[in-house]
Amino acid sequence: MAFLFHSDAERGAVFREVFARELPDLEFFQSGRGVEPEKVRYLIAWTVPDDISRYSNLEVLFSIGAGVDQFHQDVVPQHVKVVRMVEDGIIRMMQEYVALGVLALHRDLPAYFEQQKRCSWHSIAARQASERRVGFLGLGMLAQAAIAHLTPFQFPLAGWSRGEKQIEGVTCFHGEDQLAGFLKQTDILVCLLPLTERTRGMLNSQLFAQLPGGARLLHVGRGPQLDQAALIQALDSGRLAAAMLDVTDPEPLPQDHPLWLHPKVMITPHIASVTQPHTAAQSVVENIRRHRAGEELIGVVDRTLGY
Ligand code: NDP
Ligand code: OXD
Repeated sequence: MAFLFHSDAERGAVFREVFARELPDLEFFQSGRGVEPEKVRYLIAWTVPDDISRYSNLEVLFSIGAGVDQFHQDVVPQHVKVVRMVEDGIIRMMQEYVALGVLALHRDLPAYFEQQKRCSWHSIAARQASERRVGFLGLGMLAQAAIAHLTPFQFPLAGWSRGEKQIEGVTCFHGEDQLAGFLKQTDILVCLLPLTERTRGMLNSQLFAQLPGGARLLHVGRGPQLDQAALIQALDSGRLAAAMLDVTDPEPLPQDHPLWLHPKVMITPHIASVTQPHTAAQSVVENIRRHRAGEELIGVVDRTLGY
């Protein structure tokens, strides 16, 4: 029985070390070369290897990241379980990044950076956090963890999810019918949705029109969820005051893309949260132990929903 690590060599070396210690009876391979394909029961990757059909006994496909939209589901055999990454390192980094982004947008950092370029010393009227409503699109593992780290600032907090939720201190909305109600009371919109057929292109002019004037966007989901032209239009018209984007489409944006130099936009190169090899390897080990014991795995994707 074998585990195949199909991703970067650096993280692979850490996985190899952790697996040798924790699961010594499981053969570990860092590339498809030299492995007898029928031995592979577990595979971890960022994108599905072209030759996945070789692994006829594959049971679990792990994503090296929290998202699974990069796995084209139609090439993954139906009986294979798909599991997203659930590990402390990813969670902690997202907590930091969302706190950073919400505070930067709340305290007008894009406008101050623009002023700095013009050597302009000029204060902008500040709002109290208690008067700035922060709303999360998506109330999953990462959004809930980020929310927990925002609570000390006293922003009124809300979120929207597919199914109904109850989270202490958070006004929860769910389903299509409640989206408009959620948007109209959101001053800083944080997108932490998975990319699915429903969420593709969802951050568009129709959605921006439902936010209060001067709202701000923090986008940490996936690039194709955002209509970038609509964002530029909303920023230029003043409908939105600023945006911070960690994800774009494509990544990176072309050199001449107008978002790069837009005065109301801050961009980071998809670094909000990155899988940390030691904690990730430990979490995959735990899931393999569960699988062997016939228990439910952590982070199993509902393949019909796509997340
Ligand atoms: P989860 O699967 O835990 O949560 C997803 C949330 O989105 C759930 O609350 C779910 O609702 C909600 N949702 C999904 N579809 C809909 C819909 N159609 N309508 C309303 N709500 C919906 O995911 P994570 O929190 O772990 O991760 C979220 C995403 O963050 C990842 O898929 C990835 O794209 C992105 N990400 C970005 C990173 C970066 O560095 N920029 C790093 C890691 C992840 P419900 O709870 O009802 O199921
Ligand atoms: C992830 C990511 O999904 O890095 O983990 O975006």
